[in-house]
Amino acid sequence: RKRVAILISGRGSNMASVIEAAKAPDYPAEIVLVLSNRPDAAGLTRAGEAGIPTQAIDHKAFRDRETFDVALDAALREAGTELVCLAGFMRIFSAGFVEAWAGRMINIHPSLLPLFRGTHTHEQALQAGVRLHGCTVHYVVPELDAGPIIAQAAVPVMAGDDPDSLADRVIAQEHRLYPKALALVASGRAPLEGGRVAFAAGQGTEGTL
Ligand code: GAR
Repeated sequence: RKRVAILISGRGSNMASVIEAAKAPDYPAEIVLVLSNRPDAAGLTRAGEAGIPTQAIDHKAFRDRETFDVALDAALREAGTELVCLAGFMRIFSAGFVEAWAGRMINIHPSLLPLFRGTHTHEQALQAGVRLHGCTVHYVVPELDAGPIIAQAAVPVMAGDDPDSLADRVIAQEHRLYPKALALVASGRAPLEGGRVAFAAGQGTEGTL
């Protein structure tokens, strides 16, 4: 079982879905640490209740991005982390940190990338008038929300949707998709090779999990 650390900044509902999935005896990853840059993140309490070690590293205590990332890196190594899962972690990393974890760090983003990078993705989708929206799990590269795609799930945009109703439909798919995508990565069936995801035969070919 791969040793996984989950980084959060808030509520941690994706974190909770991964923790739940990892309880299965045949799941290829174990959650060894939940770490937040916000000490008051609700997800920390939730992880603690699930018996997972938690840690807060407040980014406000550091003079710049690089020194925060050094502390983060040290905490991850201390926990024996092999894979990092970003789950609503709302900090941008320095290039050095991303390089250090290249091919070993994945993120879930609430849109069908490469559409709608950044924040307010549901507003962006409604504004653009797309009829399909969704979520993406991808490897993290220095450019924000631009990494090679591991898995996606799509949802319809319905007449009368507002950002909240659309977010509710997408998050349900996030909770389904992230544990499956992590399992794919942790079991070595979707490694990052030469800037592309090298899917094992029969994996990822349908586009969604
Ligand atoms: C999720 O929708 C996730 O995709 C998004 O934040 C939310 C976190 O919710 N992530 C990003 O926007 C990353 N830039 P959660 O804390 O309940 O998992």
